[in-house]
Amino acid sequence: MNEKIAKLLNQQINKEFYSAYLYLDISNYYDEKDLDGYAHYYMVQAQEERDHALLFMQYMQSNGLKITLEAIDRPDKTFDNLLSPLEVAAEHERYVTALINDIYHEAHQAKDYRTMKFLDWFIDEQREEEDSADAMVSRYNLFGQDPRGLYLLDQEYAARVYTAPSLTL
Ligand code: FEO
Repeated sequence: MNEKIAKLLNQQINKEFYSAYLYLDISNYYDEKDLDGYAHYYMVQAQEERDHALLFMQYMQSNGLKITLEAIDRPDKTFDNLLSPLEVAAEHERYVTALINDIYHEAHQAKDYRTMKFLDWFIDEQREEEDSADAMVSRYNLFGQDPRGLYLLDQEYAARVYTAPSLTL
């Protein structure tokens, strides 16, 4: 496999673990605010990000590529109000989409159809992730200023169930 693609895949492992870290940080923020549903939602999101990291790792393993695990950056976002973590999350997902697109672009250039096929799942996943993250911002803006609205949103997010990724390697 093209060295540049291998490097980007390796880097993506770290980026996905960072995403998990960021969402744990957001979960902690809402836990401190006693919004247990939001805290739970982001705990589940962190589990999904860990799964994404493992999928990249497994893909590299199954292609005989050397994996180097790097240090994970500490989450350094500051949250000024209840809306701010939701906006940070939505922005972060757009960043991750750009990263996936970059790997896809390199794979396409190199005619690495196997990696493109692997990344197809992530292309779809990022659409869903951006959509969910944007919905959390919109719904907060619509209902979250009202205590009863916020309570109902929190209840709803408390019901999120973790599901393992549909992609297996
Ligand atoms: Fe692994 Fe939220 O993208």
